[in-house]
Amino acid sequence: MKNILIIGATGQIGSELTMRLRKEYGGDNVVAGYIRGAEPKGELLESGPSAEVDITNPTQIAEAVDKYNVDTIYNLAALLSAVAEAKPQLAWKIGVGGLYNCLEISREKKCALFTPSSIGSFGPDTPADKTPQDTIQRPQTIYGVTKVTGEMLSDYYARRFGVDTRSVRFPGLISYVAPPGGGTTDYAVDIYYSAVKGEEFKCPLKPGTFMDMMYMPDALRAAIEIMEADPARLKHRNSFNIASMSFDPEIIYNKIREYIPDFRMTYELDPLRQKIADSWPNSLDDTCAREEWDWHPEYDLDAMTRDMISHLRQKFGIPAPAAIHHQAPSLEPAF
Ligand code: SER
Repeated sequence: MKNILIIGATGQIGSELTMRLRKEYGGDNVVAGYIRGAEPKGELLESGPSAEVDITNPTQIAEAVDKYNVDTIYNLAALLSAVAEAKPQLAWKIGVGGLYNCLEISREKKCALFTPSSIGSFGPDTPADKTPQDTIQRPQTIYGVTKVTGEMLSDYYARRFGVDTRSVRFPGLISYVAPPGGGTTDYAVDIYYSAVKGEEFKCPLKPGTFMDMMYMPDALRAAIEIMEADPARLKHRNSFNIASMSFDPEIIYNKIREYIPDFRMTYELDPLRQKIADSWPNSLDDTCAREEWDWHPEYDLDAMTRDMISHLRQKFGIPAPAAIHHQAPSLEPAF
């Protein structure tokens, strides 16, 4: 029986992963760890226990692990790439200091530990297309630096202390539930909100900027499946490339227009996000994840677009337009 603590349970991934894990393992067995000011509400609050767990406070983590007999920690605390550039010291404190706290507590209390890495762990020297599992990682963002450090530190704890650390490199994650904040890939979420609300979208990245993206249900399944994988099959641990789709702004815009033909997009470039995106790969090769724990994505761009539009319409109470029927011209005389 798993007893799980999620650190960052009210964030972009955490708010959905907590609910998904509660369905899988039972509400009482999944503790939603939150920081002050981001308390769980509604279904997240009511469906299981919660505890204030600031990742920079090892005592709080240890107390929650003891109180709830936790054997598995999902560490989802992070500042996303663009925000991290504005607060690099805090990004390091959370990304590396926080991970160190999780690793030490996992070592002492024998917990398994999941900490996501990212396409942001790569840099401009990395092969950009079909980026291999094991390749050059020299990121130029503080976000990427914390992710590469986290991958290496987690592998060290696995080798040196036998801590069961595992991880995937998430692409940009797209969801209609919790809005993301401060990421470079977030335009691919914002664009759906504008399209459904009937607003023009100002794209911060230029045409031809390709990045890997993934629909949230696939990402949640990856986070669960990697922790359930047979350790005897794992040649890698921290961290697996996973992929499902790669597109640039033009491709997602044209896909949305297949369903919302009036939708309009213009470009208003954000130099920081453009620079970050240009330093990240165009598409990852996820062969190792497929071979070592049977990873496979279920959503492509078309399936994701249909699902996003339909859920966002429900969320904002916007009815789907009636199907347009082209009427045959009447043969009856007009008088
Ligand atoms: N979605 C993240 C970001 O854009 C990358 O993992 O910062």
